[in-house]
Amino acid sequence: MILDPKYFDLKTNKLIPVDEFVEKVLYHPNVGYYSKKIPFGNKGDFITAPTISNLFSEIITVWVITTWEKLGKPKNFNFVELGPGDGSLTKVFINTIKKFPDINKSINIYMYEKSNLLKNVQRKKLKGSKVKWIKDFDRINKGPVVFFGNEFFDAIPIKQFSYDKNLLKEKHYFINSLKGLTEVYKDAKKEDIKKIKKFKVLKNLRFIEFPKLGFDELDKITSKVKKLSGGILLIDYGYLNILNKSTLQAVMENKKMDMSHLLKNLGRADITSLVNFKLLKEYFTKNRLKVKKIVSQKFFLEKMGIIERAQNLQINMTFEQKNYMSFTLRRLLHKNLMGELFKVIFAFKSKKNNFLGFN
Ligand SMILES: C[S@@+](CC[C@H](N)C(=O)[O-])C[C@H]1O[C@@H](n2cnc3c(N)ncnc32)[C@H](O)[C@@H]1O
Repeated sequence: MILDPKYFDLKTNKLIPVDEFVEKVLYHPNVGYYSKKIPFGNKGDFITAPTISNLFSEIITVWVITTWEKLGKPKNFNFVELGPGDGSLTKVFINTIKKFPDINKSINIYMYEKSNLLKNVQRKKLKGSKVKWIKDFDRINKGPVVFFGNEFFDAIPIKQFSYDKNLLKEKHYFINSLKGLTEVYKDAKKEDIKKIKKFKVLKNLRFIEFPKLGFDELDKITSKVKKLSGGILLIDYGYLNILNKSTLQAVMENKKMDMSHLLKNLGRADITSLVNFKLLKEYFTKNRLKVKKIVSQKFFLEKMGIIERAQNLQINMTFEQKNYMSFTLRRLLHKNLMGELFKVIFAFKSKKNNFLGFN
């Protein structure tokens, strides 16, 4: 069934900025993509690292434990998972952390999730655990805080701009039931121009992607980190070198779809963009957080011992189980699969600098 744009509160024959369009299509509370569909896994639209292998989630847990140690083993410590999806990572996180009684006593675990459907999935999966769901970070007031997001930032809609001579124009969509989506550029708002011009990384680009909504989220997160100390670890697919082009993509059933076909599949395809990691780094630095060197997922997971952990587990496995573990590990680490395309950034406030995984 083709859903009419009006169900998403989208007006036809009107212009709408890219981020506002994507926000409605993905997160409309009744019909949005994330309100209706559990997108993860082989049978879904895309596969994420925690749904590929528990090893990924174990390694993230070990990283959080070592970070807690580096922060001086605080008696009150907060961990917030940003956009926890189907709760796969947190499930492993809770089971692993139980084996380390000191941190287990000190840690408060929070989930920050926008989709009601996914919140319910998470609640079912994590029934009986001490996890708490939060809408904002107000109740986190004591002890350092570590935020973690896997494919969180790429799921937040971005704005797109292009220069016409020296004038910055914002990309909008014109929605027409017959013609589909047409791109139209309109003068950018003064406040957006001001924000964009602050970033050196965006200078000299002809085509600019700007994560305004993503930065709104990070503003809340960085101010908590600045107040309480701790940090924010983000893993996402993204780039370091200038691209100068649109990275917006729609994905359905593990296949990319042309954006112009999206209207026929409103609410049925995920829409993401690549994360500009240098822009993220500049953002954090401007907000007076320190930033570790940006590394690939392969580098980070290997430094944190994923291969040794897999080898250990494989000792007691059947031939088929061993093969399956090697197959999933390859997906996480191979440079043409997730290994290099996914990057890891850690921004922090602490006197310590020797957090693991980055050198
Ligand atoms: C691509 S999924 C990744 C899920 C999970 N982290 C994983 O790796 O399997 C993006 C997640 O972020 C959530 N999300 C997106 N924007 C959000 C926001 N502004 N606040 C909270 N959660 C958000 C989505 O609902 C979803 O759970």
